Amino acid sequence: MKKEVRGHLKFMPQPVLMIGTYDENGIPNLMNAAWGGQYDYDMIFIALAEHKTTDNIRLKKEFTVAFATKDTLTASDYFGIESGKKVNKIEKAGFHARKSEKIDAPVFDEYPVTLECRLVEENDYGIIADVIGTVADESVLNEEGQIDLDKAGLISFDPTSNSYRVIGEKAGAAFSAGLTIKNK
Ligand SMILES: Cc1cc2nc3c(=O)[nH]c(=O)nc-3n(C[C@H](O)[C@H](O)[C@H](O)COP(=O)(O)O)c2cc1C
Repeated sequence: MKKEVRGHLKFMPQPVLMIGTYDENGIPNLMNAAWGGQYDYDMIFIALAEHKTTDNIRLKKEFTVAFATKDTLTASDYFGIESGKKVNKIEKAGFHARKSEKIDAPVFDEYPVTLECRLVEENDYGIIADVIGTVADESVLNEEGQIDLDKAGLISFDPTSNSYRVIGEKAGAAFSAGLTIKNK
């Protein structure tokens, strides 16, 4: 029997997106965002409230989005519970930023996969952006130069228990596992 689950929306799983920006003085910042996803083929959306990050994105119209990992969990959570308005979070966490080659936004050594994004639109709910590039550490790439999630150690956000979970092993092949039923 199904039972009603009370409380706020439990949308699962959620990503752990690390938004990287520069402020007006070129100080890099990172914030944690779970309410985001793919919007179109090469576009993303993020539900964004008022933060230092939001101000920085309005200023530069460019930002990066990295995917948090098990190895960066503590710092990635920290970037979601303190504001760059009060402290240089990057310095405090001991992270290392270098400017993206394509946009005016920082890429962080500590995250293995980073999207380079250009703002398309801000609306009442958040932002929509074009992804104009992706950079990744060689250590997470396969022989074809594509990202191998088995090597990346990414985490997701679990809103049922307010925790982070490591993304697990491959469970099946998309766009083909269902063929066994389709072709019956
Ligand atoms: C797990 C987690 C998920 C979060 N998701 C979002 C989100 O999707 N959108 C948002 O506006 N804030 C989100 N936040 C809050 C911001 O990360 C937080 O307010 C942060 O301090 C903003 O940093 P900044 O002021 O340096 O930009 C999240 C925080 C955590 C810990």
